[in-house]
Amino acid sequence: MSFFQVEGLVKRFGALLATDHVSLAVQPGEIHALIGPNGAGKSTLVNLISGPMPPDAGRVRLDGRDLTRLPMHARVRAGLSRCFQITSIFREATVRDNLLLAAQAHAGASFGLLRDRRHERPLAETAQALAERVGLAADQHRVAGTLPHGAQRKLDVALALAARPKLLLLDEPMAGMGPEDSERMTELIQQLKTDMAILLIEHDMKAVFALADRISVLVYGRVLVSGDVDAIRGNPQVQAVYLGTEEPAGAPA
Ligand SMILES: Nc1ncnc2c1ncn2[C@@H]1O[C@H](COP(=O)(O)OP(=O)(O)OP(=O)(O)O)[C@@H](O)[C@H]1O
Ligand SMILES: [Mg+2]
Repeated sequence: MSFFQVEGLVKRFGALLATDHVSLAVQPGEIHALIGPNGAGKSTLVNLISGPMPPDAGRVRLDGRDLTRLPMHARVRAGLSRCFQITSIFREATVRDNLLLAAQAHAGASFGLLRDRRHERPLAETAQALAERVGLAADQHRVAGTLPHGAQRKLDVALALAARPKLLLLDEPMAGMGPEDSERMTELIQQLKTDMAILLIEHDMKAVFALADRISVLVYGRVLVSGDVDAIRGNPQVQAVYLGTEEPAGAPA
Protein backbone atom coordinates (compact mmCIF):
# COMPACT_ATOMS: atom_id res chain seq x y z
CA MET A 1 0.00 0.00 0.00
CA SER A 2 1.21 3.49 -0.81
CA PHE A 3 2.01 6.06 1.86
CA PHE A 4 -0.70 8.39 0.62
CA GLN A 5 -3.47 6.94 -1.45
CA VAL A 6 -6.72 8.10 -2.97
CA GLU A 7 -8.92 5.24 -4.14
CA GLY A 8 -11.93 5.53 -6.40
CA LEU A 9 -13.03 8.98 -5.27
CA VAL A 10 -16.37 10.10 -6.68
CA LYS A 11 -18.11 13.46 -6.36
CA ARG A 12 -21.29 14.53 -8.10
CA PHE A 13 -22.78 18.00 -8.30
CA GLY A 14 -26.28 17.18 -9.49
CA ALA A 15 -25.86 15.61 -12.91
CA LEU A 16 -22.20 16.64 -13.14
CA LEU A 17 -19.64 13.97 -12.28
CA ALA A 18 -16.90 16.33 -11.08
CA THR A 19 -14.71 13.53 -9.69
CA ASP A 20 -15.02 10.28 -11.61
CA HIS A 21 -13.41 7.37 -9.74
CA VAL A 22 -10.05 9.07 -9.20
CA SER A 23 -7.21 7.00 -7.76
CA LEU A 24 -3.67 8.22 -7.17
CA ALA A 25 -0.77 7.66 -4.82
CA VAL A 26 2.15 9.64 -3.41
CA GLN A 27 5.21 8.24 -1.66
CA PRO A 28 7.34 10.13 0.88
CA GLY A 29 10.02 12.18 -0.83
CA GLU A 30 7.91 12.35 -3.98
CA ILE A 31 6.07 15.15 -5.73
CA HIS A 32 2.97 14.04 -7.56
CA ALA A 33 1.59 16.82 -9.76
CA LEU A 34 -2.01 17.02 -10.82
CA ILE A 35 -2.68 19.01 -13.96
CA GLY A 36 -5.71 19.52 -16.16
CA PRO A 37 -7.65 22.20 -17.99
CA ASN A 38 -10.06 24.60 -16.26
CA GLY A 39 -13.00 22.80 -14.75
CA ALA A 40 -11.28 19.40 -14.83
CA GLY A 41 -12.03 18.88 -11.16
CA LYS A 42 -8.66 19.68 -9.55
CA SER A 43 -9.97 21.90 -6.77
CA THR A 44 -12.85 19.52 -6.12
CA LEU A 45 -10.33 16.74 -5.64
CA VAL A 46 -8.32 18.91 -3.23
CA ASN A 47 -11.51 19.55 -1.25
CA LEU A 48 -12.32 15.83 -1.11
CA ILE A 49 -8.81 15.01 0.06
CA SER A 50 -8.43 17.77 2.63
CA GLY A 51 -11.87 17.43 4.09
CA PRO A 52 -14.30 20.30 3.58
CA MET A 53 -16.29 18.24 1.08
CA PRO A 54 -17.36 14.62 1.64
CA PRO A 55 -16.94 12.26 -1.33
CA ASP A 56 -19.90 10.23 -2.62
CA ALA A 57 -17.62 7.20 -2.80
CA GLY A 58 -13.98 6.23 -2.40
CA ARG A 59 -11.27 6.46 0.22
CA VAL A 60 -8.40 8.70 1.32
CA ARG A 61 -5.58 6.99 3.23
CA LEU A 62 -2.43 8.40 4.76
CA ASP A 63 0.28 6.37 6.43
CA GLY A 64 -2.02 3.43 7.07
CA ARG A 65 -4.97 5.49 8.32
CA ASP A 66 -8.30 5.96 6.65
CA LEU A 67 -9.06 9.69 6.68
CA THR A 68 -12.12 9.61 4.43
CA ARG A 69 -14.68 10.46 7.09
CA LEU A 70 -12.51 12.60 9.36
CA PRO A 71 -13.21 16.32 9.70
CA MET A 72 -10.59 18.73 8.39
CA HIS A 73 -8.83 19.46 11.67
CA ALA A 74 -8.46 15.73 12.38
CA ARG A 75 -6.90 15.21 8.96
CA VAL A 76 -4.41 17.97 9.72
CA ARG A 77 -3.55 16.22 12.97
CA ALA A 78 -3.13 12.96 11.06
CA GLY A 79 -0.50 14.67 8.89
CA LEU A 80 -2.38 16.10 5.93
CA SER A 81 -1.79 19.81 5.51
CA ARG A 82 -2.99 22.13 2.81
CA CYS A 83 -2.16 25.60 1.58
CA PHE A 84 -5.10 27.92 1.30
CA GLN A 85 -3.95 30.44 -1.28
CA ILE A 86 -3.22 33.15 1.30
CA THR A 87 -6.69 33.12 2.86
CA SER A 88 -5.33 31.55 6.05
CA ILE A 89 -3.02 34.50 6.72
CA PHE A 90 -3.92 37.10 9.35
CA ARG A 91 -3.28 40.14 7.23
CA GLU A 92 -3.14 42.67 10.07
CA ALA A 93 -0.63 40.64 12.09
CA THR A 94 3.10 40.47 11.55
CA VAL A 95 4.74 37.55 9.80
CA ARG A 96 6.17 36.48 13.13
CA ASP A 97 2.81 36.56 14.92
CA ASN A 98 1.26 34.56 12.09
CA LEU A 99 3.97 31.95 12.53
CA LEU A 100 3.70 31.96 16.32
CA LEU A 101 -0.04 31.43 16.14
CA ALA A 102 0.38 28.59 13.68
CA ALA A 103 3.12 27.01 15.79
CA GLN A 104 0.94 27.27 18.86
CA ALA A 105 -2.10 25.86 17.10
CA HIS A 106 -0.16 22.72 16.24
CA ALA A 107 1.91 22.41 19.38
CA GLY A 108 -0.59 19.93 20.79
CA ALA A 109 -2.16 19.47 24.19
CA SER A 110 1.10 20.00 26.03
CA PHE A 111 1.08 23.68 25.02
CA GLY A 112 -2.58 24.12 24.24
CA LEU A 113 -3.98 26.91 26.32
CA LEU A 114 -1.09 27.16 28.72
CA ARG A 115 0.43 30.57 29.13
CA ASP A 116 3.45 29.24 30.92
CA ARG A 117 6.61 31.18 30.04
CA ARG A 118 8.53 27.94 29.67
CA HIS A 119 6.54 27.26 26.53
CA GLU A 120 7.31 30.51 24.81
CA ARG A 121 10.79 29.57 23.75
CA PRO A 122 9.99 26.40 21.75
CA LEU A 123 7.20 28.24 19.96
CA ALA A 124 9.54 31.10 19.13
CA GLU A 125 12.12 28.65 17.87
CA THR A 126 9.55 26.92 15.72
CA ALA A 127 8.38 30.26 14.30
CA GLN A 128 11.97 31.23 13.55
CA ALA A 129 12.69 27.89 11.88
CA LEU A 130 9.56 28.20 9.74
CA ALA A 131 10.51 31.73 8.67
CA GLU A 132 13.98 30.56 7.70
CA ARG A 133 12.67 27.53 5.89
CA VAL A 134 10.54 29.58 3.50
CA GLY A 135 12.94 32.50 3.20
CA LEU A 136 11.06 35.05 5.28
CA ALA A 137 13.53 35.40 8.15
CA ALA A 138 14.26 39.03 7.26
CA ASP A 139 10.56 39.93 6.95
CA GLN A 140 9.30 38.67 10.29
CA HIS A 141 8.37 42.08 11.66
CA ARG A 142 6.46 43.17 8.62
CA VAL A 143 2.68 43.19 8.64
CA ALA A 144 1.63 40.20 6.57
CA GLY A 145 -0.94 42.06 4.47
CA THR A 146 1.72 44.51 3.27
CA LEU A 147 4.03 41.80 1.91
CA PRO A 148 4.35 41.36 -1.84
CA HIS A 149 2.24 38.57 -3.29
CA GLY A 150 5.11 36.08 -3.60
CA ALA A 151 6.08 36.55 0.05
CA GLN A 152 2.47 36.06 1.16
CA ARG A 153 2.44 32.75 -0.65
CA LYS A 154 5.60 31.72 1.15
CA LEU A 155 3.96 32.63 4.43
CA ASP A 156 0.97 30.53 3.48
CA VAL A 157 3.30 27.57 2.88
CA ALA A 158 4.99 28.21 6.23
CA LEU A 159 1.61 28.15 7.98
CA ALA A 160 0.87 24.77 6.39
CA LEU A 161 4.31 23.52 7.45
CA ALA A 162 3.63 24.46 11.05
CA ALA A 163 1.41 21.37 11.25
CA ARG A 164 4.45 19.23 10.40
CA PRO A 165 2.65 17.46 7.57
CA LYS A 166 3.40 14.04 6.17
CA LEU A 167 1.53 15.04 3.04
CA LEU A 168 1.45 18.63 1.84
CA LEU A 169 -1.31 19.62 -0.54
CA LEU A 170 -0.48 22.62 -2.70
CA ASP A 171 -3.32 24.08 -4.80
CA GLU A 172 -1.76 26.35 -7.40
CA PRO A 173 1.08 27.80 -5.33
CA MET A 174 2.38 29.76 -8.35
CA ALA A 175 -0.97 31.40 -9.17
CA GLY A 176 -0.60 35.14 -9.73
CA MET A 177 3.20 34.99 -9.50
CA GLY A 178 5.71 36.49 -11.86
CA PRO A 179 8.55 34.33 -13.22
CA GLU A 180 10.97 35.31 -10.46
CA ASP A 181 8.63 34.41 -7.59
CA SER A 182 7.65 31.21 -9.41
CA GLU A 183 11.26 30.20 -9.56
CA ARG A 184 11.75 30.86 -5.86
CA MET A 185 8.62 28.91 -5.00
CA THR A 186 9.87 26.06 -7.18
CA GLU A 187 13.11 25.97 -5.21
CA LEU A 188 11.22 26.01 -1.93
CA ILE A 189 8.95 23.12 -2.95
CA GLN A 190 11.96 21.17 -4.20
CA GLN A 191 13.57 21.51 -0.77
CA LEU A 192 10.41 20.48 1.07
CA LYS A 193 10.01 17.15 -0.67
CA THR A 194 12.87 15.54 1.22
CA ASP A 195 10.71 15.71 4.35
CA MET A 196 7.22 14.96 3.10
CA ALA A 197 5.08 13.70 0.27
CA ILE A 198 3.68 16.51 -1.88
CA LEU A 199 0.59 16.65 -4.05
CA LEU A 200 0.94 19.67 -6.30
CA ILE A 201 -1.90 21.15 -8.33
CA GLU A 202 -0.44 23.70 -10.69
CA HIS A 203 -1.10 25.38 -14.03
CA ASP A 204 2.50 26.56 -14.44
CA MET A 205 3.87 23.75 -16.62
CA LYS A 206 7.44 24.95 -16.26
CA ALA A 207 7.19 24.45 -12.51
CA VAL A 208 5.39 21.13 -12.90
CA PHE A 209 7.99 19.73 -15.27
CA ALA A 210 10.80 20.95 -13.01
CA LEU A 211 9.33 19.46 -9.84
CA ALA A 212 7.17 16.45 -10.49
CA ASP A 213 8.28 12.87 -10.04
CA ARG A 214 4.91 11.80 -11.36
CA ILE A 215 2.16 13.69 -13.18
CA SER A 216 -1.50 12.78 -13.43
CA VAL A 217 -3.65 14.54 -15.98
CA LEU A 218 -7.22 15.16 -14.94
CA VAL A 219 -9.84 15.75 -17.65
CA TYR A 220 -13.59 15.84 -17.05
CA GLY A 221 -13.06 14.57 -13.52
CA ARG A 222 -11.10 11.52 -14.63
CA VAL A 223 -7.40 10.66 -14.65
CA LEU A 224 -6.62 10.61 -18.36
CA VAL A 225 -2.99 9.49 -17.97
CA SER A 226 -0.41 9.23 -15.22
CA GLY A 227 3.33 8.95 -15.70
CA ASP A 228 6.70 10.61 -15.30
CA VAL A 229 7.58 13.94 -16.90
CA ASP A 230 8.83 12.46 -20.16
CA ALA A 231 5.79 10.23 -20.56
CA ILE A 232 3.39 13.12 -20.01
CA ARG A 233 5.29 15.62 -22.13
CA GLY A 234 5.30 13.25 -25.09
CA ASN A 235 1.74 12.03 -24.72
CA PRO A 236 -0.38 13.03 -27.74
CA GLN A 237 -3.63 12.94 -25.75
CA VAL A 238 -2.17 15.39 -23.22
CA GLN A 239 -0.93 17.65 -25.99
CA ALA A 240 -4.40 17.57 -27.52
CA VAL A 241 -6.00 18.60 -24.24
CA TYR A 242 -3.57 21.47 -23.68
CA LEU A 243 -3.33 22.69 -27.24
CA GLY A 244 -7.07 22.28 -27.67
CA THR A 245 -6.64 20.63 -31.05
CA GLU A 246 -9.19 17.94 -30.35
CA GLU A 247 -11.52 16.63 -27.71
CA PRO A 248 -9.82 14.19 -25.36
CA ALA A 249 -10.87 10.55 -25.48
CA GLY A 250 -13.88 9.96 -23.28
CA ALA A 251 -15.12 13.54 -23.38
CA PRO A 252 -18.84 13.87 -22.83
CA ALA A 253 -20.70 14.62 -26.06
N1 LIG B 1 -19.74 23.46 -5.29
C1 LIG B 1 -20.00 23.17 -6.58
N2 LIG B 1 -21.27 23.03 -7.02
C2 LIG B 1 -21.53 22.71 -8.30
N3 LIG B 1 -20.60 22.53 -9.24
C3 LIG B 1 -19.32 22.67 -8.88
C4 LIG B 1 -18.94 23.00 -7.53
N4 LIG B 1 -17.60 23.08 -7.46
C5 LIG B 1 -17.13 22.81 -8.69
N5 LIG B 1 -18.16 22.56 -9.55
C6 LIG B 1 -18.03 22.18 -10.96
O1 LIG B 1 -17.23 21.01 -10.99
C7 LIG B 1 -16.32 21.04 -12.10
C8 LIG B 1 -14.89 20.97 -11.58
O2 LIG B 1 -14.56 22.19 -10.93
P1 LIG B 1 -13.18 22.46 -10.19
O3 LIG B 1 -13.24 23.79 -9.58
O4 LIG B 1 -12.88 21.30 -9.31
O5 LIG B 1 -12.18 22.45 -11.42
P2 LIG B 1 -10.64 22.89 -11.49
O6 LIG B 1 -9.95 21.80 -12.24
O7 LIG B 1 -10.15 23.22 -10.14
O8 LIG B 1 -10.72 24.18 -12.40
P3 LIG B 1 -9.73 25.49 -12.42
O9 LIG B 1 -8.54 25.09 -13.21
O10 LIG B 1 -10.57 26.49 -13.13
O11 LIG B 1 -9.43 25.85 -11.01
C9 LIG B 1 -16.63 22.33 -12.87
O12 LIG B 1 -17.52 22.01 -13.90
C10 LIG B 1 -17.31 23.20 -11.80
O13 LIG B 1 -18.21 24.11 -12.41
MG1 LIG C 1 -9.27 24.97 -9.29
